[in-house]
Amino acid sequence: MPKASRSDWILRRNKDPYTARSSVDGYRCRSAYKLIEINQKFRLFKKERRQIILDVGCAPGGWLQVIKSHASNSSVIIGIDLKETKLDSTITICGDFLANEARQKLLAASSGHKFDIVLSDMATNSTGDAQTDQVRNFELVDSFIDFAIMHLARGGHLIAKIMCGSGDKILIDKTKTYFKDVKIYKPNSSYKDSAEKYLVAISRVA
Ligand SMILES: C[S@@+](CC[C@H](N)C(=O)[O-])C[C@H]1O[C@@H](n2cnc3c(N)ncnc32)[C@H](O)[C@@H]1O
Repeated sequence: MPKASRSDWILRRNKDPYTARSSVDGYRCRSAYKLIEINQKFRLFKKERRQIILDVGCAPGGWLQVIKSHASNSSVIIGIDLKETKLDSTITICGDFLANEARQKLLAASSGHKFDIVLSDMATNSTGDAQTDQVRNFELVDSFIDFAIMHLARGGHLIAKIMCGSGDKILIDKTKTYFKDVKIYKPNSSYKDSAEKYLVAISRVA
């Protein structure tokens, strides 16, 4: 199938209700609604208690905005992306999540405390080769899950975008070992023809 052209993309964007809503609601991008839907279904952010929350692949900051409005004011919200991102009352780090140096900064930002929720909406830039993209996306999520397993508090939750493909079962089986419940969820605001889905792993067991 031919790749969608830039004009197709602009047309779709102009007709998209979530893009229109995001400018009215003041969100930086339409992705915000995906996290709103995930939280409506799984109720992970708590207004009544402090949580330490890490958002990986946080630019331009739509998810950070949602986290800020749904978590308690005392929560610590940390984001990392290859691109510079700024949002009041959050700690943002510009760096490559796969690099050890960036990971050390994330752990320093949480003052050595374990995270209560870790989220990843990371996606690699498309190389134009579907198989290469799939391998790269798999490596990103796999590495994120390993990090989460090490640094999540007992009872903590993980949300990760997965680009449906042959490696999904490996990722799902791995999380099932460490979490009470694992679900795959596709929000309505995710384009129907997009391969993305979200892996939601609830309650890290010891
Ligand atoms: C779909 S966007 C995230 C949108 C974000 N959830 C929001 O609501 O604003 C994916 C992001 O993943 C980031 N990303 C990809 N690989 C990364 C890596 N290795 N380290 C950090 N960020 C990465 C990209 O720079 C991009 O900004």
